Amino acid sequence: MPVVAFSSPKGGVGKTTLAANVAIALHDLGWGVVAMDFDVQNSLRLHFGIELADGRGYVAAHDQPEEWPNLALPTDSGVFVLPYGQVTEQERILFERHLMEEPDYLQRGLGPILERPDWVVLADLPPGPAPALRALDGVGALHISVLLADATSLSLLPLIERGHFYGDKRPLVVVNQVDPRRRLSRMVTDFISGRIPESLLGQVYRDEGAAEAIGWQRSVFEQAPSGVAARDIRAVAERLSLRLKGEADDTAETAEDAAPEDGEAGEARKWP
Ligand SMILES: Nc1ncnc2c1ncn2[C@@H]1O[C@H](COP(=O)(O)OP(=O)(O)OP(=O)(O)O)[C@@H](O)[C@H]1O
Ligand SMILES: [Mg+2]
Repeated sequence: MPVVAFSSPKGGVGKTTLAANVAIALHDLGWGVVAMDFDVQNSLRLHFGIELADGRGYVAAHDQPEEWPNLALPTDSGVFVLPYGQVTEQERILFERHLMEEPDYLQRGLGPILERPDWVVLADLPPGPAPALRALDGVGALHISVLLADATSLSLLPLIERGHFYGDKRPLVVVNQVDPRRRLSRMVTDFISGRIPESLLGQVYRDEGAAEAIGWQRSVFEQAPSGVAARDIRAVAERLSLRLKGEADDTAETAEDAAPEDGEAGEARKWP
C-alpha cells in the first residue's frame, strides 16, 4: 500500500481539508483508504463527521503500534480514519520520540495495511518540519506539499527546491485557494506551474463551500458537490490515483495484488 503525506512549510493552507477530501475521492475511485492524523489539533476526523467530543485515537497507544489497525474508525464515506485522539502533553512527547528514534515505528504500526497495494494511507501532518515528516520517509511516503497562491508561498518554493523541509525527495505540489479574480493569485499560480510543471499535481480554487464544509462536519462533496473545489479535488485525486497505480503496477507481483482496476469505483471496502 502506498502512503501519501500532506504537509507544508506553512500552516493554515488546507492540508487537512485536502487530505480528507482527496481520501474520499480516492475511495470513490476504488481505493481502500485509511486517513491518518499526525497533528495534535486532531481535526482530520471532523471532516468525516466524527463528533467533536469523541477523543478516541491511536496516539494514546504510542507504545503498541501493532494495535493501531484495530483503532481505525469506519466512516459513512467508506474511508477508515485513524484520529490522533485527545492525549496528554506527555503522550504527545512520547509519540514524537518514537517517531524520531525508531526507524521501523510506522512500519510496525501500519504493517498489515502496507501489504495491500490496493489500499492507500493518507497522512495529514502538522505545519512545518514535524517529526512525522522524516518518519514517513521510512515507509516510502509520497509527499504532497500544499501551498497557497500567495507571495509567502512563492517565497518558500526555492527553499523546497533546495531540499529544506523534504530533504532530497522532491514533493508534489498542490496550490490551494486559487482565486482567479485576484491578480496576485493568478500570477503566483502561473509562476509555480511554469517553474515546477512536473511536480504540480494540481490547483484547487477557493470555494466558500469548502470553507463551510468543516463547520457542518461534512466533506466538500456533500457540502458543495458542484462547486469548484469539489471539481478540483476530484481532479487532484484522479492524477494521484494514476501515479499510485503506476507505482503499484511496478511493484505488484500478481494481478490480484494490483491497484484497483477501472470499474471497481465506489465499491465498499472491508478492513484488510
Ligand atoms: N479551497 C478552499 N477554499 C476555501 N477555503 C478553504 C479551501 N481549503 C481550505 N480552506 C479553509 O482554510 C482553512 C484552513 O484549512 P485547513 O485546516 O485544512 O488547513 P491546514 O493547512 O490543515 O491548517 P493547519 O496548519 O492548522 O493544520 C479552513 O477554514 C478551511 O475550511
Ligand atoms: Mg491541518
